[in-house]
Amino acid sequence: MDIKKLLVELTLEEKAALLSGVDFMYTNPVPRLSIPSVRMSDGPHGLRVQKEGGDNGVNGSEPATCFPTAASTASSWNPENTYKMGEAIAEEALHYGINILLGPGACIKRNPLCGRNFEYFSEDPLLAGKMAAAEVNGVQSRNVGVSVKHFALNNAENFRFMGDSVCDMRAIREIYLKVFEIIVKESKPHTMMCAYNKINGEYCCENKWLLTDVLRNEWGFDGVVMSDWGATHDRVKGVAAGLDLEMPGDTAICRKWIIDSAKDGTLKKEELDKSVENILRLVKRYENNPKETAVDWEAHNALAAEIAEDCAVLLKNDGMLPLSKSERLFVVGDLFEKMRYQGAGSSMINPTYLSTTKTAFDENKIAYEFCRGYAENNLEPDEKLISEAITKAKGYDSVLVFAGLTDYVESEGADRENMKLPANQLALIDALMKTGKKTIIVLYGGSPMELPFADKVSAILNMYLPGQNGGTATYNLLFGVKSPCGKLAETWVKSYADVPLGKYFSKTVNEIYKESIFVGYRYYLTANKEVRYPFGYGLSYTKFNYSDMQVTESDAEYKVSCEIVNNGKYDGAEIVQLYVKAPQGVFKPVKELKGFAKIYLKAGESKKIEIVVKKDDLRYWNAKENRPVTESGKYELQLCS
Ligand code: BGC
Repeated sequence: MDIKKLLVELTLEEKAALLSGVDFMYTNPVPRLSIPSVRMSDGPHGLRVQKEGGDNGVNGSEPATCFPTAASTASSWNPENTYKMGEAIAEEALHYGINILLGPGACIKRNPLCGRNFEYFSEDPLLAGKMAAAEVNGVQSRNVGVSVKHFALNNAENFRFMGDSVCDMRAIREIYLKVFEIIVKESKPHTMMCAYNKINGEYCCENKWLLTDVLRNEWGFDGVVMSDWGATHDRVKGVAAGLDLEMPGDTAICRKWIIDSAKDGTLKKEELDKSVENILRLVKRYENNPKETAVDWEAHNALAAEIAEDCAVLLKNDGMLPLSKSERLFVVGDLFEKMRYQGAGSSMINPTYLSTTKTAFDENKIAYEFCRGYAENNLEPDEKLISEAITKAKGYDSVLVFAGLTDYVESEGADRENMKLPANQLALIDALMKTGKKTIIVLYGGSPMELPFADKVSAILNMYLPGQNGGTATYNLLFGVKSPCGKLAETWVKSYADVPLGKYFSKTVNEIYKESIFVGYRYYLTANKEVRYPFGYGLSYTKFNYSDMQVTESDAEYKVSCEIVNNGKYDGAEIVQLYVKAPQGVFKPVKELKGFAKIYLKAGESKKIEIVVKKDDLRYWNAKENRPVTESGKYELQLCS
């Protein structure tokens, strides 16, 4: 494909057509010049390939591996997971003739109620950026593209088509854009998806500062910027600002506006051609991709379980876990059979296999008695189901409860109304606690929940949304085949009332980010607020010791090393976190994550880890000077478990 030649040959009408989709998932082809369509699919943790003539609904999609969602993968703190997942998704994409995966979703989790938090990674830009960049690198290693979404400050769902994120520049730079900056610089995504919302009064899709000055000129992005589905308003202003592709298209009025304004000179030829050239380069990238490649579906299914095991977070354990196979168990909770393994909305996948926890227990011949306790598709307590559970509990010393968030309380398109578990589950757990039995809770769900029973139960294992083979992962962790080794990528507060400015969240079109840079743990630590489980927290069946911390300095970076020993009885993995406490001349959070490493150690084994921190990454955003600045003074490096 000769792009220079095509730019001369294309008519104005054809150029305008190229800048929009032809339907939900295809760009416009130009058959006269043999320019094919680019084909896309949602994303982000597996494919939602619509069959020919698909209506963007969720039922008609082709089977694809449903991997754990980003809330899960982030808790593994292991970018190798998202890389491998990315490679596998790309293989499936090639199989179905897909060129671009619509994901990863990388927005910062500003508030725990955001309806899409299940498909975002973290409240911390470094962790989210590294995990997402690895997914992009994995997908693109097979020459399948990605669309990193939703650029930017798309942190709530209720007013998603017209919300205005009102935020100060320091927070924008240090938190909300930082995550995208890391992704763009470390993985060169083929495309970015421009968010629905406005930032400080300007729609992202018309925001030249965002799409051109920062994204392209500052960060060096050289791909295509596409709109989120239906996010375009003033199409001509959008093209001039750097929004190349309107999705889904094909909006006749937008095309006419482009043609008319190109004719009357309102839209400059260079501006139009720049976007056309970006699209042509995108089409060219996939010219020689293999067609209809074979996929090892079983291997991908196994990978989904392996990743889920690496992500789960053990929140509490007084020694009840791991379970022994020799005892008959009492199991309660509809989510045991109807395990929630993915979120609701555009990311909903039609899985190739499904292993619920029940399937895995049965396959492994676990002896148990089961009671539903509540109906997953209902919110109201069901006295009959509760009393059945209480009666049966009498025959046992302990009870294994499956609980969590269902599609009825957590989904794309709306923010959660509160942080509570559904009322029927709370009533069940409350009644079970009153029997005095030792209780172990397994949680499924895409975001933090209030856990009023946390102090009283024996153990809590949080699986988040573990994907289609999550049942195998849950089984392996509960029975100690593997030791849990995830740590939270977001803070779990005791009560929603503790969330900064929580009562104002998602109530009006104007979402005011008054907390500025004090997002997530940056707030809780600085305000000295007690939380249920902090960012970075997670237990294991084994124990790790840290010794011999060393710091070496060179011109551009610090290298921090440390010896880690697994001195428990189980093989396991530790996530070592490096925080920096910076001088406080300019206000800052008490400490911020600046690096991390995950290390796998057999029982008794020890190894050295090394974490590199670039000096440039210690800068804060000086809003007055509009640039990052290093404050002089004493910096403390803290290695934390
Ligand atoms: C969502 C995107 C998604 C797109 C296509 C939009 O409504 O916000 O994340 O990729 O639809 O399904």
